[in-house]
Amino acid sequence: MNKIIKSINTVCCIGAGYVGGPTMAVIAKHCKNIKVTVLDINQDKINAWNSENLDDLPVYEPGLKEIVRETRGKNLFFSTDIAGSLEKADMVFISVNTPTKSKGLGAGYASDLKWVEASARTVSEFAKGHTIVVEKSTVPVRTAELIKEILILSCDKKDDKKTFSVLSSPEFLAEGSAIKDLESPDRVLIGGDNQKAIHKLSEIYQKWIPKNKILHTNLWSSELSKLTANAFLAQRVTSINAIAALCEPTGAKIKEVSNAIGYDSRIGEKFLEASPGFGGSCFKKDILNLVYLCRYYGLEEIAKYWEQVSIVNEWQKLRIASLIVDKLYGTVSLKNILILGFSFKANTNDTRESASISISRYLIDNGAKLLIHDPQVNEKQIANDLKENSSKIDCSSEGGWSYINNIYKSAKGVDAIVVLTEWDLYKTLEWEKLFELMRKPAWVFDTRSVVNSENLEKIGFRVWKLGQ
Ligand code: NAD
Ligand code: UGA
Repeated sequence: MNKIIKSINTVCCIGAGYVGGPTMAVIAKHCKNIKVTVLDINQDKINAWNSENLDDLPVYEPGLKEIVRETRGKNLFFSTDIAGSLEKADMVFISVNTPTKSKGLGAGYASDLKWVEASARTVSEFAKGHTIVVEKSTVPVRTAELIKEILILSCDKKDDKKTFSVLSSPEFLAEGSAIKDLESPDRVLIGGDNQKAIHKLSEIYQKWIPKNKILHTNLWSSELSKLTANAFLAQRVTSINAIAALCEPTGAKIKEVSNAIGYDSRIGEKFLEASPGFGGSCFKKDILNLVYLCRYYGLEEIAKYWEQVSIVNEWQKLRIASLIVDKLYGTVSLKNILILGFSFKANTNDTRESASISISRYLIDNGAKLLIHDPQVNEKQIANDLKENSSKIDCSSEGGWSYINNIYKSAKGVDAIVVLTEWDLYKTLEWEKLFELMRKPAWVFDTRSVVNSENLEKIGFRVWKLGQ
């Protein structure tokens, strides 16, 4: 395996998604001497990455379009020419989706590795000379073994110049702050056993990341560290949400509790915001993957321990949805409810596993008519997520939703406003104006601690705020 590793001039990334796009853009920005090509099988996505109007990029991230403007067409390229690009690549990142399996062995828990496997087979087929393959997708521990095996067994045996080394370098960026996280990460991780390959990847990161933040481990520790980091983060959100539920009947306030515990340097102040439940494409799938791995290795009690994090998260969404119905006199049939926020957190257009999906679905099924607003998520995406098209406000029929651009124009006759995502613009709404327009009693349900309940109550609102 330890064949000649030359300098890295050409890098490819398979997968032009939320990780592949921004990560490669930042590499291109800092390594002007390296040609970076982001590859995908989805032609529409590549077209969107190549769109002239940078507001049409498929990923919305603060700071991203500026980097794409600076690098695209110079040393950053987006392409569907997978074979042609891999042939020339010295290093290939695999950054494809690894969602929970929906059927077959391990369905509902295990990660579906079919896209990782397909990527490894494609690299094996088209790569030339020595290629460093970097696993960037989040994968179960020991996946690199599978990748190595495929790379070695599927390539042409007669071509003895074709060799591979495999590294694990999981990504820790969070959506909404991806560029900031990539530009100044807490750490990057490189797992592997080929020192020359590790050195080459490290040289790339060192162009902008201090050396002491580049950690080296073996392959398996690197893979498991990624799952563990997400499990700890998800567990922390579930922990604060669990305490929020206990605050409500006891008179304690979650903001005061999280502030008080956050002062303890062993606990720390970050990631203690109570919410309608964590969303995003990764926390749930990575926790379930960990549960699957624990069961696979016969650790049933540990599996149950981590599974509870996900169970409580699902409970939190349902708790909030049913509480809204309860407060609105036990029925939302034909009531108009304004939903503020559909993305799973602020500053992203991603809705995967967003709490807004299940809460909206529950209210619609209970007969409510929702008016849904989000500054970055479009109507088509919401229709996809709710598995039903927008109904153009039909006064007589029960249940349905419509997409709105203007909160004030849509507030007339509305019974309740539900804040589900913490977008900045929801922090500065003209509440007096909204109160005038709404049907009374006018309710505000704030799941993200964006409103000042005392001020709203003075205006005349009935306010329910998570964790108080
Ligand atoms: P994504 O769904 O946004 O993008 C994945 C892309 O890979 C898709 O565009 C898909 O078309 C493409 N793809 C799949 N198979 C392919 C193939 N064989 N050839 C070429 N392209 C192919 O996913 P994402 O959010 O970017 O996540 C990618 C990985 O990174 C996952 O394992 C995820 O767990 C991990 N991760 C995600 C985040 C995040 O914030 N989204 C952060 C850290 C790690
Ligand atoms: C998360 C991790 O933070 C990243 O380090 C990791 O790389 C990524 O998953 C991944 O592997 O995909 P992300 O899901 O993009 O990033 O966003 P987070 O900021 O972690 O938020 C996840 C969810 O938790 C959101 O719904 C957010 O609203 C919620 N959350 C977060 C809270 O409810 N409270 C908090 O205090 C923090």
